[in-house]
Amino acid sequence: MQNTNRTKKQAQKLARIDKKHIWHPFTQMQDYSKSNPLIIDKGKGSYLYDIEGNRYIDGVSSLWVTVHGHRKKEVDEAIIRQVRKISHSTLLGISNVPAIELAEKLVRIAPKGLSKVFYSDNGSTSVEIALKIAFQYWQQKSKATRAKQKILSLTNAYHGDTIGSVSVGGIDLFHEVYRPLLFETLKAPSPYCYRCPLKKTYLRCGLECLNALERMLKKHHRKLAAFVLEPLVQGAAGMITFPKGYLKAARELCNRYNVLMIADEVAVGFGRTGKMFACQHEGIRPDLLCLAKGITGGTLPLAATMATEEVYSAFLGEVQDLKTFYHGHTYTGNPVACAAAVANLDVFEKEKTLTQLQPKIRLLKKRLRECRDMPQVGEVRQCGVMVGIELVADRETKKPYPVQEKIGHRVILEARKRGVVIRPLGDVIVLMPPLAISEKELNTLCDVTFESIRITTEQQQ
Ligand SMILES: Cc1ncc(COP(=O)(O)O)c(C=O)c1O
Repeated sequence: MQNTNRTKKQAQKLARIDKKHIWHPFTQMQDYSKSNPLIIDKGKGSYLYDIEGNRYIDGVSSLWVTVHGHRKKEVDEAIIRQVRKISHSTLLGISNVPAIELAEKLVRIAPKGLSKVFYSDNGSTSVEIALKIAFQYWQQKSKATRAKQKILSLTNAYHGDTIGSVSVGGIDLFHEVYRPLLFETLKAPSPYCYRCPLKKTYLRCGLECLNALERMLKKHHRKLAAFVLEPLVQGAAGMITFPKGYLKAARELCNRYNVLMIADEVAVGFGRTGKMFACQHEGIRPDLLCLAKGITGGTLPLAATMATEEVYSAFLGEVQDLKTFYHGHTYTGNPVACAAAVANLDVFEKEKTLTQLQPKIRLLKKRLRECRDMPQVGEVRQCGVMVGIELVADRETKKPYPVQEKIGHRVILEARKRGVVIRPLGDVIVLMPPLAISEKELNTLCDVTFESIRITTEQQQ
């Protein structure tokens, strides 16, 4: 790799400008401005390199997006080839080649029956679009269904940061401040077994959370347009993994009560759970499927909302019928991003990425047993290569650490010193390596994470 390492002085200058001008997302800037920021310069495979040439394992796939590793030749070359043809043309009323090729591929790999693809640029908009489609679907389907205007979602849900996706969110820390701005939604309890909102104990509970979901649907179905959820894992809430069977039962309930199911696979899609899509673990097909993050293998922003023929057909009519879906973003279906996504899916096929992933998932499972009994580890959750290690001040009572202790943040700083970049969700340490990570790198990621947890929690006592 070309050596572009900067001198200490150049690095300091960049850090100064960064702190002076960049407002970082989900970051308390008062703390950040006092920190020594990590500034990434390049990447290769599972590694990130900072501006001084230090190397780190990318333990969270650059916010859950990197699939085949950084600078994957096939994906990079597809991007360059497309840039040489055209970088952007609109999808409003006309089309482009990579958008068409990608749509065909997505329909082929998605749960059967999702035959329409609506593009956008990020996970939040893919959800925003699904919500609007669900709402408008019932308005246009028949007079009798026009009262179906509300959305049901789960507590602890995270669906993005735009107003619609925040409205269906359920993480108070992120969402509560905006409450007066949001539209009203209904909430069913999250299947968070470790801290069950219904105060039940898993396995003896008879999945009471599903009964609660059914009660909500039974009571409100006449006014409910859709139920939106993150299949199998509520990611941003701390990698909360669903009890087996929850997703399938939720699908059956949506059928029974005539409510559309929106599966937000922005985080769990494209192999993270061990299958291409999380819905495939329980053999279900949602009515609307939201995709983003890993869709381009972690190279460019792109999202897709997939719909069934039944949903789509409610939008057909003469122009004067006003059934058109009046939604679209400037960069919708950007050809370079679509070309990257096509190449990403080709690599999945060519390298049998999902088959190669299975032993790594098993290795991760085995390694995670080592940290289960650490004194400050409350629960370890894993689904595929998505991991959440929840740290607690007291294992017996599950008492969390005081927020000001910033325990999660301190763990990741320890890991950084040891050549690993990870990012916590509060007190939950998240691991989400690229699918292409080697077993050796995976072992190093585990070694460093466990060591960093041990050192930080021991300092705390
Ligand atoms: C399940 C889920 N939905 C939506 C989003 C929002 O995606 P984006 O950040 O691309 O807007 C995220 C982001 O983490 C997510 O995890």
